[in-house]
Amino acid sequence: FNTIDDFDIEGKTVLVRVDINSPVDPNSGIILDDTRMKLHSETLKELSDKGAKVVVLAHQSRPGKKDFTTLEQHSHVLSKNLNIDVKYIDSIFSHEAKETIKNLKNSEILLLENVRFFSEESISKSPEEQSQTLIPQNLAPIIDIFVNDAFAAAHRSQPSLVGFAPILPSAAGRVMEKELKVLQNAIDNVEHPCVFILGGMKSDDSIDVMKNVLENGTADYVLTSGLVANILLLAAGYDIGKVNKKFIKDRDYCYLVKKSKKLIKKYGSKIVYPKDVAIQNKEGLREDVTVDKIPNFSIFDIGIESIKDYAKIIRSAKTIFANGPAGVFEESKFAMGTEDILNAIASSEGFSIIGGGHIAAATVAMGFENDVNHISSGGGACINLLSGKKLVAVEALIDSAKK
Ligand code: 3PG
Repeated sequence: FNTIDDFDIEGKTVLVRVDINSPVDPNSGIILDDTRMKLHSETLKELSDKGAKVVVLAHQSRPGKKDFTTLEQHSHVLSKNLNIDVKYIDSIFSHEAKETIKNLKNSEILLLENVRFFSEESISKSPEEQSQTLIPQNLAPIIDIFVNDAFAAAHRSQPSLVGFAPILPSAAGRVMEKELKVLQNAIDNVEHPCVFILGGMKSDDSIDVMKNVLENGTADYVLTSGLVANILLLAAGYDIGKVNKKFIKDRDYCYLVKKSKKLIKKYGSKIVYPKDVAIQNKEGLREDVTVDKIPNFSIFDIGIESIKDYAKIIRSAKTIFANGPAGVFEESKFAMGTEDILNAIASSEGFSIIGGGHIAAATVAMGFENDVNHISSGGGACINLLSGKKLVAVEALIDSAKK
């Protein structure tokens, strides 16, 4: 693929897709972590310094979620990080947005609205098909060069991520370039035993990755925590309580139970799920219970005995890839799983990569950032790439460069 170095940028209108999807406090609406904005600032600053008219496209969360917000606040945080005034407009391709783009001066930066406010953005199609949808069709005529820096969303085949590359000269941004280089190097040098640690909430991604890495022999063990562990417990025949079943159902993840059953049957002890979990009891306290005796209370972490087992496997691993926190680490009584797993990764001699916004924030907050080999800005994208899958937005850049 091309990079920014392959183009003469000065005076050009450059559309940059970044991933500044950030944790937002559901009550105050305040952005809690600006790691991704700091990262992308490098690319944006370089383009601005080189005299481009910079138009920024990004998403925040998903429709229906509490942190599905406008990008107004993001523009303030970006302005602060860049020390340049980042303009913001509350639409994506309205008449006003297009006029503002046309009137940009060299080095100015404009952030458009949360691209997922436009419903077509959430539909997956091939890059060629996406190039004919409304967002690329409306913006491409007033853009000279497309830069994709959104590594963390590069596994999504959505219009803003893959729809510009077929119709505009395109390049990878600096974040994208760096991530691909580090992760490709890791893939080429996997040493065994190799452990994948899958947690967090995006269980559809996790189960896919689990299947891939066991099938292609990359992983010797897959350790599970977070929501995916609950799905596996259900698949293994445990009663996880009504409230936890409902949580899975509300996220439309019931189909994953069937998939998981097949995987457990095929790969047996290579798939590790907890033997105990932590719930919040009536008094509001943490209580660790064995998985054959889970009461009807929400599960918020993996249990102490499971943590010990996981730590042992992690310490003897030569390669460790981790995605997603083990539990609700934001609450101190449920931080133990995440903290002890990170501690085991940090003290292991194996090569380690941690991916995903929340676990990356936990790694920094808990002081482990200097003891892991790489913290990726991507969660799903990182783990998908490590599992041997191609990232559709990267493939679109490669095809665009061939043209
Ligand atoms: C992420 O945080 O992993 C990326 O921003 C992608 O978000 P998504 O899973 O909602 O597509």
